[in-house]
Amino acid sequence: MSKLPNVRPSIFSTMSQLASEYHAINLSQGFPNFPVDERLIEITAKLTHKNVHQYMPMAGYPPLLQKIAELTEKQYNRTVDPNTEILITAGATQGIFTAIQALIKTGDEVLVLDPSYDSYEPSILMSNGIPIRISLEDDYTVNWTTIKQACHSKTRMIIINNPHNPTGRIFTQSDIEALEGILEHYPNLLLLSDEVYEYITFEQKHISANSREKLISRSIITSSFGKSFHITGWKIGYLIAPENLMNEIKKVHQFMVFSVNSLSQVAISDYLDIVQLDEIASFYQKKRDYFKQLLTPTRLELLPCEGTYFQIASYAAISNENDVDFCKRLAKNFGVAAIPNSTFYADDTDLKHIRFCFAKTNETLEAAAKNLTSL
Ligand SMILES: Cc1ncc(COP(=O)(O)O)c(C=O)c1O
Repeated sequence: MSKLPNVRPSIFSTMSQLASEYHAINLSQGFPNFPVDERLIEITAKLTHKNVHQYMPMAGYPPLLQKIAELTEKQYNRTVDPNTEILITAGATQGIFTAIQALIKTGDEVLVLDPSYDSYEPSILMSNGIPIRISLEDDYTVNWTTIKQACHSKTRMIIINNPHNPTGRIFTQSDIEALEGILEHYPNLLLLSDEVYEYITFEQKHISANSREKLISRSIITSSFGKSFHITGWKIGYLIAPENLMNEIKKVHQFMVFSVNSLSQVAISDYLDIVQLDEIASFYQKKRDYFKQLLTPTRLELLPCEGTYFQIASYAAISNENDVDFCKRLAKNFGVAAIPNSTFYADDTDLKHIRFCFAKTNETLEAAAKNLTSL
């Protein structure tokens, strides 16, 4: 008997498969198709000849932990203990899964805001927790009254994703305050704050849980070097959590992964000495603006994108089809693969919205826009 009877092949695999079958330009899955920073390649190439090929300490390469602590201090003014409060993970996905296995017990309820990243629910189900999926409003704002009403004594965790995939939105100051109000009301409630796009924000920075005094003692915060440094295939990220929660998380991590790939840990540690993190945001802001400009002649309506490398577009003016059929037709007949937003919802909410990933070369974006103009 399956432990996850309702889990189907992900829409990302389906759309990428369709893209290759129809030779469509793949703006579906969230990964860059431009070259990695040459300096990171060089660091990695040189390191392969050094003594970096054996197991790392379980929590991570100490200089990397130290640099993450310094970065957290610089970015968010939070002092983190590199020895007890940081864990290097095999991507944010493993960090999320591990944190949930460690902290969620049978029957615990976990609130998930839809549209949501697809790993949350299976991770909760694998720990015999109960996912409670609550949809954002149709304009992707959060109805905190609904969230508060869903909380009760069995609610153990709320998962947020900020900056948000797929909508590209970031939480406002009043969102964060509303969240803090709820947590204050429920002393046992934990926050899992997925901040993998923390370095990809545009007109304004997101408000990290790292910067909120009221949240820190209850928060497990995850980030992804894969997203920040255009190296999604390296699968490396980290968790930050207070020591008491981290101790529990480490108990699971040590039997799941033990320690993350040594070469990538040392390479990233060295790279952090030279990389300018604010350049990542301006790089993607240019991509966002260029993609937007390219799509102006199309009949797609673009929604605001405040962070991440995803752009939501409404095709309501073009077709009444459901978004899955629309995306299939887009790939087959117009040569562009996108993700139907309904797949991020438990109840398949269809707002006639699709998601494009603009972490692509300008040539790719231009070719996609050319095809989309004929829609
Ligand atoms: C919201 C969100 N969280 C987590 C992840 C996973 O990150 P990683 O590749 O580091 O596991 C992704 C990747 O798409 C994501 O979009």
